[in-house]
Amino acid sequence: MTPATQTAQTLGAALRDNATVRQAIESIVGEVRTASAEITEIRGPREGLSEGYNAFMARVGDIRGRGLYYPYIGSGLGNGALVELADGSVKWDMIGGIGVNFFGHSDPELIEESLIGGLDDVVKQGNLQSNDDAYRFADKLLELAGRNSSLKHCFLTTGGALANENALKICYQKHRPASRVIVFKDCFMGRTTAMAQLGDEAAYRQGVPLTVGVDYMPFYDEVAAERMGQTQFIDMAVMHLEQLIERYPSQHAVFCFELIQGEGGFNLAPREYHKALMECCKANGIAVWDDEIQTFGRTTSMFAYERLELGEFIDVLTVAKMTQASATLFTEKYNPSPGLLSGTFSGETVSFRVGRRILERLDEPGRYGADGLHARHHKLFAEQVRSLAAKHPEWFPPIPEIRGATNARDIVGGDGGMMRMTPFSGDKATTIKACKACYDEGVILFYCGHGPYHMRMLPPLGVMRDEDWPRVFEVVERAFAKASA
Ligand SMILES: Cc1ncc(COP(=O)(O)O)c(C=O)c1O
Repeated sequence: MTPATQTAQTLGAALRDNATVRQAIESIVGEVRTASAEITEIRGPREGLSEGYNAFMARVGDIRGRGLYYPYIGSGLGNGALVELADGSVKWDMIGGIGVNFFGHSDPELIEESLIGGLDDVVKQGNLQSNDDAYRFADKLLELAGRNSSLKHCFLTTGGALANENALKICYQKHRPASRVIVFKDCFMGRTTAMAQLGDEAAYRQGVPLTVGVDYMPFYDEVAAERMGQTQFIDMAVMHLEQLIERYPSQHAVFCFELIQGEGGFNLAPREYHKALMECCKANGIAVWDDEIQTFGRTTSMFAYERLELGEFIDVLTVAKMTQASATLFTEKYNPSPGLLSGTFSGETVSFRVGRRILERLDEPGRYGADGLHARHHKLFAEQVRSLAAKHPEWFPPIPEIRGATNARDIVGGDGGMMRMTPFSGDKATTIKACKACYDEGVILFYCGHGPYHMRMLPPLGVMRDEDWPRVFEVVERAFAKASA
């Protein structure tokens, strides 16, 4: 923490600046670059590695009590959007650990930050004792969030669901004794006991006692809004919210908004929809919590609330995934009493250093906005999907409405680096089959939605090249042929 005018230096800082250490790091990063550059194309397993890989995979299944969804164990090396697996095979990584690796694999700058972080005296930073990296990361995050919101403070933790737990506690405390929570249909908020209860997926809370009072609001629905008229649809949603408030007077602490739904199907809503609901929350003393764990950094604005111009309404916000460290941000009004938030770990030195560098890179010009890099990649993705559909219309039949509604009438959707395509009418079994066929052929992606089901990508737009898209879709085409056979 040396101010610019101060020349004195600690021994710890001197070690990080030491010329021999720096040269050693440069030399390691150079070796990484050289090794990484050998990965240029997808390929199958290397001779002699499959047997050991398969045996290890079986052991992993025993260790976990259940096999992995994809038989994926990385080798520890990759090149941009390409990743090498421990059997020597190489695949396109279009899901990035479900949104974590936005700068792909073996990024030299991030490796350099990791190596510097590895010099630290400790691996974990904590709430009682921390080095400066944790607060430098949080400071940068607050600088970015503070541009278009009143978010002023930040508490760090080690996962998205835990950041959400802290957000929930902050809202409970501020609005005590109100204890009910409002969320959207199809939301996903993580896997802790409380978050599993908020999430709109019965299978994820099987056997979990229901201790949280949760009320569900409809998410925006394109087809229903078109049929009724957008204004009428929004009025109906506000009426629905008012009914909940009347049913449980003064009992709602918070409404959690996922402005673009992730697991729920990459669903979008217009500004007016969220704004009307947020205004209703404000009028009724209900906190507005924005869960940006999946959206942060990757859409066409850094925070999803920025594109929608909703920053003024946000009381509490959570981020995780691509930030490497997880955080709960809150306004001055929502600063909780001492004792509510703590924990042994706040995170790892490496996560904070790499996370901060990621925030700086996201903040470089040219990334966001309608003409930014993320929008351009979304367009390239959409072009690939549409040309695949033109070539094979049989793979893209119309998406049926479910109970007269669907958020996904088009075969392509999402925003920026949240990319969905909906082949096979959004049928669950075929969509999952197609995901697995993509994996086998060499593209890692995943599904989302609760019907219709979609194939989703959270690609590493930080390092993706325009010319990668046709190469990825060549593989997708082969996989769809197999899945539809
Ligand atoms: C919107 C949202 N909230 C919360 C979470 C939970 O984060 P984590 O898996 O890091 O606990 C996720 C994870 O996918 C998410 O997408």
